[in-house]
Amino acid sequence: MEYGKFPQYRPRRMRNGELARNMIRETEVSANDFIYPLFVKAGEGKRDEVPSMPGVFQVTLDMLMPEIRELLDLGIHYVLLFGLPAERDEVGSSAWHDHGVVQEACRIIRAEAPEMFVITDVCMCEYTSHGHCGKLDDEGYVMNDATLDLLAAEAVSHAKAGAQMVAPSDMMDGRVGYIRKALDDAGFENVPIMSYSTKYASGFYGPFRDAADSAPAFGDRRAYQMDPANADEGVREAMYDIAEGADMVMVKPALPYLDVLSRVKRETGFPTVAYNVSGEYSMVKAAAQNGWIDEKRVVLELLTSIKRAGADMIITYHAKDAAKWLAGE
Ligand code: PBG
Repeated sequence: MEYGKFPQYRPRRMRNGELARNMIRETEVSANDFIYPLFVKAGEGKRDEVPSMPGVFQVTLDMLMPEIRELLDLGIHYVLLFGLPAERDEVGSSAWHDHGVVQEACRIIRAEAPEMFVITDVCMCEYTSHGHCGKLDDEGYVMNDATLDLLAAEAVSHAKAGAQMVAPSDMMDGRVGYIRKALDDAGFENVPIMSYSTKYASGFYGPFRDAADSAPAFGDRRAYQMDPANADEGVREAMYDIAEGADMVMVKPALPYLDVLSRVKRETGFPTVAYNVSGEYSMVKAAAQNGWIDEKRVVLELLTSIKRAGADMIITYHAKDAAKWLAGE
């Protein structure tokens, strides 16, 4: 046998039994790594399962705290809030309403569960009647600069309601710097920004658009989200956002873009989040429900692979299940 420069090296010697493998394991996943996306909706008395995402629910404000307590009991301390407002309009004005659904959710969680860290998604698509991520011009194109004011107003209203971090997902150019300045001017210089810096125009967001009711009424998001073919540009996007003041950057989706994730982490050296998106979740669920894969094994393997590629944190709908399995349940 020939092992190149190390004729005595036999990797298998460290693979006999769990205790030997544990000695050389490089990547550990734990509940501390998870951010759980939560859909909060207007109205009351509802906890509706999203048909394309078994195990994921849209909850009204009165049903929010049991959900939060369940997460805390599992050791999950980070939530990312998405809002489903009662009403939508052309510009998405319910996004920055002081008593909007996300703002009220922030107040409730901050008052009742100080050990939970509240992050809010900042975007227009859940609040606009047309489902695009910003203000439209006469031809139906999203107007980049005219959208910045709206996003800034939304971020400030979230911070006022107690959000501890804001996460802009709209992909308008220059929004991180714009939101940073607006937060600072409003007295929230200590509220960090997690930027969806490297977000691809992806088919994997399909089930989320069911969950958030945010599918664009016409066209797609290719004019503002990234081309899946580009990795250098993905790193540049992260660097621009860091220059504008982002505290954490993100690669989204996760699994088809692990190469980009690995480069963003290495080339920026910044805290990097991976968003294991809805379509990635639904594929696993569908295969598991058919008995085609072992769900526990596959989920833990894919979360480990995301962490191994360089993620500091993982936004994932699998968080609750994974936390249970990691705790030995
Ligand atoms: C809003 C937003 C989207 C997701 C997160 N924030 C949808 C989109 O850009 O179309 C997707 C999350 C997921 O698929 O789990 N812009």
